[in-house]
Amino acid sequence: MRNINEDTITQAVLASMDDRCDSRLRTIITSLVQHLHSFVRDIKLTEAEWLKAIQFLTEAGHITDDKRQEFILLSDTLGLSMLVMALNHKKPTHCTEATVFGPFYVEGAPEYENGADIANGARGEPCFVSGQIRGLDGTPVSGARIDVWQSDEDGFYDVQRSSDGSGSAAHQARGRLYSGIDGKFQFRSILAEAYPIPHDGPVGRMLEALGRHPWRPAHLHFMIVAPGYETLITHVFRDGDKYLDSDAVFGVRSTLITDWVEHDPGVAPDGTKMKKPFYTVNYDFVLNPAEVHA
Ligand code: BEZ
Ligand code: FE
Repeated sequence: MRNINEDTITQAVLASMDDRCDSRLRTIITSLVQHLHSFVRDIKLTEAEWLKAIQFLTEAGHITDDKRQEFILLSDTLGLSMLVMALNHKKPTHCTEATVFGPFYVEGAPEYENGADIANGARGEPCFVSGQIRGLDGTPVSGARIDVWQSDEDGFYDVQRSSDGSGSAAHQARGRLYSGIDGKFQFRSILAEAYPIPHDGPVGRMLEALGRHPWRPAHLHFMIVAPGYETLITHVFRDGDKYLDSDAVFGVRSTLITDWVEHDPGVAPDGTKMKKPFYTVNYDFVLNPAEVHA
């Protein structure tokens, strides 16, 4: 293989793969090389631009560790995460739609009884969350495992606050609970607020250069696991948020937006006498039956 030029380089790279390599890997790399080469030809990439791209990716690598994942932020802000998610989670109408997972889920969050206060000291206005988990035919799903996590009133997740970033000292505004026999769940937490995704690294600079903001509209994260159903990873968004139509990671679905109702001081849904105003939010989830493999 000699004297390769701009017309023959693509074919030369494709031909260099061993016939015995994994067939899916071959499909992926073939398409990737073809698209990358077409992209470079299409925009006539200069050497300076190519070097800048290498520097950008190098910086993304340097800032990435087990607490900060700049490549996921890059994928999120370029719409790749939503695209991969949408392609892999096509659901029948009436099932609750899925959205991005995000980087702030933590394994080992505390388990709570229904009705508990999962804020665990996180700052924010009180909010009482309730809902029901159902199958497509309306059957309540009991014993579904519900993981929930959210940011506090300043827009930070607990993991962003703890000094070592692990959040292990106090799991705040996150927890695991199980739906009751009637498929229902309820817990107390705090009001979700809009927040910016981490933007002090190369992805933040990219957003700025593109004239984009880093904000996500207020939301609660849910991951719901139940035998016989596809795992649902989604958010519930707060209606009225000013970022609903410009989410930095393209995760908003109209069907996931609901009212957070503000109440004057009085008796909360769990019977607590609230001296301050509080919020309630109710959202029902409809799970997709799991694929049955013969
Ligand atoms: C989140 O909602 O937690 C999130 C999603 C994508 C990027 C950053 C944060
Ligand atoms: Fe979030």
